[in-house]
Amino acid sequence: MKSEILNVLRASDGYVSGQELCDRFGVSRTAIWKGIHQLKEEGYEIEAVPRKGYRLCGCPDHITQVELESRMQTGWAAKKLYYLDTVDSTNDYAKRLAEEGAQHGTVVVADEQTKGKGRRGRVWETPAGTNIAMSMVVRPQQLAPEKASMMTLLAGMAVACAVRETTGLEVGIKWPNDTVIHGKKISGTLTEMSMELGAIHYLVIGTGINANMDEVPEYLRETATTLKRELGRPVNRAQLICAYMKSFEEYYDKFMEHQDLSLLIEEYHSMLVNKDREVRVLEPGHEYNGIARGINAQGCLLVEKKDGSIAEVYAGEVSVRGIYGYT
Ligand code: BTN
Repeated sequence: MKSEILNVLRASDGYVSGQELCDRFGVSRTAIWKGIHQLKEEGYEIEAVPRKGYRLCGCPDHITQVELESRMQTGWAAKKLYYLDTVDSTNDYAKRLAEEGAQHGTVVVADEQTKGKGRRGRVWETPAGTNIAMSMVVRPQQLAPEKASMMTLLAGMAVACAVRETTGLEVGIKWPNDTVIHGKKISGTLTEMSMELGAIHYLVIGTGINANMDEVPEYLRETATTLKRELGRPVNRAQLICAYMKSFEEYYDKFMEHQDLSLLIEEYHSMLVNKDREVRVLEPGHEYNGIARGINAQGCLLVEKKDGSIAEVYAGEVSVRGIYGYT
């Protein structure tokens, strides 16, 4: 009830009468009053004026379950949502839920991670009250395990889309999925898979966004930035998370139509900062330079070598660097 009431108040410029809320949800005045009371306890400023009704004057500065649920505009993504003030890692928590049978689209969001995980065994910092840490359980029907890494590209696209939409910032993708602003990393995604007898049991797609940290840790300053730094003001994290979920759901559904990226290549290319730029491909035991020409429907980066041949570079196996820095 809380999130439904919040939704109506947020959508209205002025006052909404108690009666209107009762009629809309088919509940008693007491139920509405209780919902309003709970929202106030969670930090929402709601003015109550006799004979006029209720008006939303202010929202808390932190992410809450109700803030997320009331803003969510998705079909299946985040229909089941767990918000936690603190957790070891949202990916690990989501995996535990998945093992217990969590449904497709289940999402875990945390304000703070104490053991956030990056790719290649690195640590991912999520101090309380600043960034975004979210993980989704997906159960793609009949998808071959070797196609799972493409999900990571969808997450990158969804972050780029959500950041553009909610902040207006020009954000691009460094293949395969990091999002970047002015050449510095804003977000990263770690996808983990559980499979049984050659079939995907579930995937956990975990994304971290440097949102409202004033500054990234010293050792990352050359290569990473935060949305707050780039924008000059904090972003609304709940709004951004919900925009991400909506975009991810759209990209996922398009991906699943052909179980590849064919319907998304053009859009991905419009976001790809490496496109037609020189990159260095670092394969185990072999390094070379070439021009990144884009991706194929499997999400491989197509790199044109000096001799004109095209190499298909698989995400996960190699890393690609710009020759003038991080991108
Ligand atoms: C990278 O190294 O670029 C990937 C970073 C992924 C971090 C996110 S934060 C939410 C989720 N939980 C984790 O422990 N890791 C991912």
